[in-house]
Amino acid sequence: MSTPGLLLQTEQLSRIYPSGDGSITALHPFTHTFAPGLTAVVGPSGSGKSTLLNLLAGFDTPSGGAVRVGGTDIHTLGEAGRADFRLKHYGFVFQSHNLVAILSAQENVEFPLMLSGVPPRERRERARALLSDVGLEKRAHHLPSHLSGGEAQRVAVARALVSDPAVLLADEPTGNLDTRSGQVVLELLTRPARAGKTVVLITHDPDVAALADHHLRVRDGEVHAED
Ligand SMILES: Nc1ncnc2c1ncn2[C@@H]1O[C@H](COP(=O)(O)OP(=O)(O)O)[C@@H](O)[C@H]1O
Ligand SMILES: [Mg+2]
Repeated sequence: MSTPGLLLQTEQLSRIYPSGDGSITALHPFTHTFAPGLTAVVGPSGSGKSTLLNLLAGFDTPSGGAVRVGGTDIHTLGEAGRADFRLKHYGFVFQSHNLVAILSAQENVEFPLMLSGVPPRERRERARALLSDVGLEKRAHHLPSHLSGGEAQRVAVARALVSDPAVLLADEPTGNLDTRSGQVVLELLTRPARAGKTVVLITHDPDVAALADHHLRVRDGEVHAED
């Protein structure tokens, strides 16, 4: 029960930040169609990787150009429309898990479904299934503070995937994890890619990049597709 992918595209997408008297071009105009599967984004610190991801997510507003998801220019939607669109079509995983501290693992995974108005029973079942997929059914009622870093990040992955999003964006999701936990989280992120979803993963780790189907290299705000 998986919705078909929606094509993620950028067209002359750019971002300029004001800086002192002048400005920094954090992203030079970038036109790209993200093929379904796993795209790794690599590049040195400060090169513009997070800037690109935040624009793809609609968290930040471009200085020029567009981001299209299934043909919809997300920046024409308005704030509320964009939030709704994100809830339906996107999943996010960040370097830190960003779980809600006062909610259990299960409630954290249910949270996006609650916001989309999924009835309680269905959202409980879906959250349980996802927690089981990430191997955490026994931790369902634990608070984030009672989980290891690796477990908390697996809950964050379950939360990102519970709405079966077409687009999954991850910004250094294994950056705070030990090698073994990082591998588990990565394995979980490659699954939707295999199922035809578009997964965009920022990483410093060459081993991680080696797992990807497609590669983008960012340098001084210029993005180049390597394959
Ligand atoms: N909100 C901001 N305001 C001003 N400059 C920013 C902002 N965010 C990022 N930058 C600048 O844009 C460039 C790219 O940053 P970033 O996308 O975070 O790089 P990366 O994720 O590759 O480490 C850097 O020079 C950074 O200082
Ligand atoms: Mg970054």
